[in-house]
Amino acid sequence: MSHQVLDSNFSLNFVEELFSKTDSFLNGDKSYNFQGKLVASVFFEPSTRTRTSFEIASKRIGCDFVHLNVDSSTSLSKGESDQDTVLNLVSMKPDLLILRHSNFKSLTSALDRISCPIISAGDGKLEHPTQALLDAYTIRHFKKDFKGLRVLLVGDVKNSRVANSNRILLQNLGAEITICCPDIFKPDSKEWENIPHINKLNESIGEFDVIMKLRLQKERLGEERESVSDLRAFVLNSKHFEWAQSEAVFMHPGPKIDGEDFLPEVLSDSRIKILKQVEFGVYLRSALMSLLLEQS
Ligand code: NCD
Repeated sequence: MSHQVLDSNFSLNFVEELFSKTDSFLNGDKSYNFQGKLVASVFFEPSTRTRTSFEIASKRIGCDFVHLNVDSSTSLSKGESDQDTVLNLVSMKPDLLILRHSNFKSLTSALDRISCPIISAGDGKLEHPTQALLDAYTIRHFKKDFKGLRVLLVGDVKNSRVANSNRILLQNLGAEITICCPDIFKPDSKEWENIPHINKLNESIGEFDVIMKLRLQKERLGEERESVSDLRAFVLNSKHFEWAQSEAVFMHPGPKIDGEDFLPEVLSDSRIKILKQVEFGVYLRSALMSLLLEQS
């Protein structure tokens, strides 16, 4: 396996190995100890869960963790390029680098020079591989088998890197993806061309095993900025929960915006597994970092 986890094109063998290591962490295996290993993370975009999850996950397996948040307190405000910021951090010899940036492509020449493993913690609108992995792990936990599993992605699919990474990974695992959003929030890249699209959130929700709600990506809007109010019809409410299967799994990568993603009336429904995603995310990231550190 490559030492750069920058996209979601994982081999099925790798996913299987990763999930079984995640299972052992979840079951309390504490035999991994990477004491003396240093994980460095640098985020050029905001994050709450992902950053904290990587920090806790690395500490759980014995690593030291340093985080560089690129904001007004760093040299970027003095004019340093993003590439230089990354290369300087890597010169301090971390054993693993966690990176979030609005455009990985713009960092290519720097990333090519880095010898330690790199894990993407989010690449602009394009990819969020570890979110997709933890989502798939959560789905497997509740649904066991991906073959023929029907997954509905609801909301701002167009601007969501989580949607894109989930499309790649879940399809590879055998699930069927459908998107549910206003036409203007449908992704226009050719990879999405053959994905079924529903432009109303109605009784058909009952046909799906997994419903993943996606936040409006306010910070990334293009022409669809004028049509944000169209998303009001895609807020999950008690009718949708009535129509949904009794064993359906409702997910959200966070941050979940109350009133925009789910109405408060449904938030206590036990089919919502958002906090399980967060919980499993730590074990999965510990497992992923273990695999990469073992190989490096
Ligand atoms: C997502 C992200 O940043 O891509 N959150 C996360 O990492 N769990 C989704 C979002 O910001 O809407």
